[in-house]
Amino acid sequence: MDYAKVNIDKPLIQRLMYPRHTVLVTCGGKDKRNIIAVGWSMPVSINPPMVAIGIHPRRYSYALIREMKEFVVNVPIVELKDVTLLCGKTSGREHDKFAETKLTPTPGMTVASSAIKECVASLECKLASEIVAGDHTLFIGEVTAAYCTDGSYDRKYALGLLPLLYHVGGNEFVTCNRQVV
Ligand SMILES: Cc1cc2nc3c(=O)[nH]c(=O)nc-3n(C[C@H](O)[C@H](O)[C@H](O)COP(=O)(O)O)c2cc1C
Repeated sequence: MDYAKVNIDKPLIQRLMYPRHTVLVTCGGKDKRNIIAVGWSMPVSINPPMVAIGIHPRRYSYALIREMKEFVVNVPIVELKDVTLLCGKTSGREHDKFAETKLTPTPGMTVASSAIKECVASLECKLASEIVAGDHTLFIGEVTAAYCTDGSYDRKYALGLLPLLYHVGGNEFVTCNRQVV
C-alpha cells in the first residue's frame, strides 16, 4: 500500500474512527421507556466502573436521560441489526420502540429504566456528569449493576458464539469474530 494521504471533509472526519461498536441505550424509567441506537460509547473508568455515551441534544433520549439521571447500555449481537436500525431511525417521541421492535424489557436491578432481554449484556448506569462536546453531549454514567448472558463472557466475550455489531455508516454493519494471530 502507498501511504500517500488525502484530506477528509469536516462532516466525514468522525467516520475515520469507524466501524463503531453499537449499543442500544434504554432510558426513560418505566413510564416513558425508550431505546436509542448509539455508536459513540466507551468505557472511561475501571474503578469505579464508568461509561460515556455521546448523545445529540435533538434526541428524545437526551431529554429522558437528563430527566431521569440514568440510562442502561445494552449490547446487541448481529441478529439484532434490523431492530438496532429501527431504534436509530425513529424517535421515541412518536414511536413505542419496545412495542415496534418486540424487544423484551426486563426490570432494572438498580435503575427504573428497563434493560433488554435479547441483548447479551446490560450495564445499568446512574448519570454522574455530562460534558458538552461540540454538537453532542457526553453523558458519563457510573455503572451500578452489570450482567450478561450465561456462557457469553469469561473475562472477555466469546466472540465466536456471539458476534457483536459494529456500525460502518448508513445501513451497513460488520462483525468481528476472527482472531488476529
Ligand atoms: C447505528 C446507529 C448509531 C447511532 N449512534 C448515535 C450516537 O452515538 N449518538 C446519537 O446521538 N445518535 C446516534 N444515532 C442516531 C439516533 O439513534 C437516532 O437519532 C434516534 O432516532 C434517536 O431516537 P430518540 O429520539 O428516541 O432518542 C445512531 C443511529 C444509528 C442507526
